[in-house]
Amino acid sequence: MTDARRGLFISFEGTDGSGKSTQMRLLAQRLRASGFTVLESAEPGGTPIGLQIRRILLDSANEEMAPMTELLLMFASRAQATAQWLKPALAREEIVLSDRYTDSSLAYQGEARGLGFDAVLKLHELLLGDLQPDLTLCIEVDLEEGLARAHGRNRSAASDSTKETRLDEQSLGFYQRVLDGYRKIAALEPDRFHIVDGRGTPEMVADRVWAEVQPLLVRR
Ligand code: TYD
Repeated sequence: MTDARRGLFISFEGTDGSGKSTQMRLLAQRLRASGFTVLESAEPGGTPIGLQIRRILLDSANEEMAPMTELLLMFASRAQATAQWLKPALAREEIVLSDRYTDSSLAYQGEARGLGFDAVLKLHELLLGDLQPDLTLCIEVDLEEGLARAHGRNRSAASDSTKETRLDEQSLGFYQRVLDGYRKIAALEPDRFHIVDGRGTPEMVADRVWAEVQPLLVRR
């Protein structure tokens, strides 16, 4: 950590349909109710520029997108959110919550697309230096159950003019590799990257998330 004083940075990870976005929303509510100022970001997306990048990434017409192009666009969105929102909020000593961060690129592009962890970590260092979440919560549910939930949701949300489904159209084997990627990160960085049991009601999972976050609040 380069800054002597800064806020708290927590990211959420998980395969599609794991419930991580719901959990992040519930955590933000709980933190605000406890009096904290919270900034919420999401990737790919977050900022207005990030949302334009997200449209390119998810457009089902962009079938020919090369894995390296995908990785660079993920980082372009991340670099923008970091510069525009995350760093200023951390400097104001706020709590930053990000729905996905570089660990998604490690798991999806590094592991599942086969680009390797090394390429992703080098890009992170080049673009973002040593900025890392203080805590990453990876919500783990049964893969097939989660995917069925995500696909149903995306199909009903996609209109005919904007088919934002390109990244949802992967095989089960692809998501299995994503999970392998997350487990590798957990083994490499056990202090920062925690896998949270995502089974049960959203409230049950939210209590597990709160149990992870609370010790960091006490130390502040
Ligand atoms: P997201 O909006 O979180 O969708 P979901 O809620 O369905 O998980 O992420 C969109 C997709 O982008 C998702 O399939 C994961 C993928 N993704 C990557 O492949 N690499 C990345 O670095 C990021 C941030 C996301």
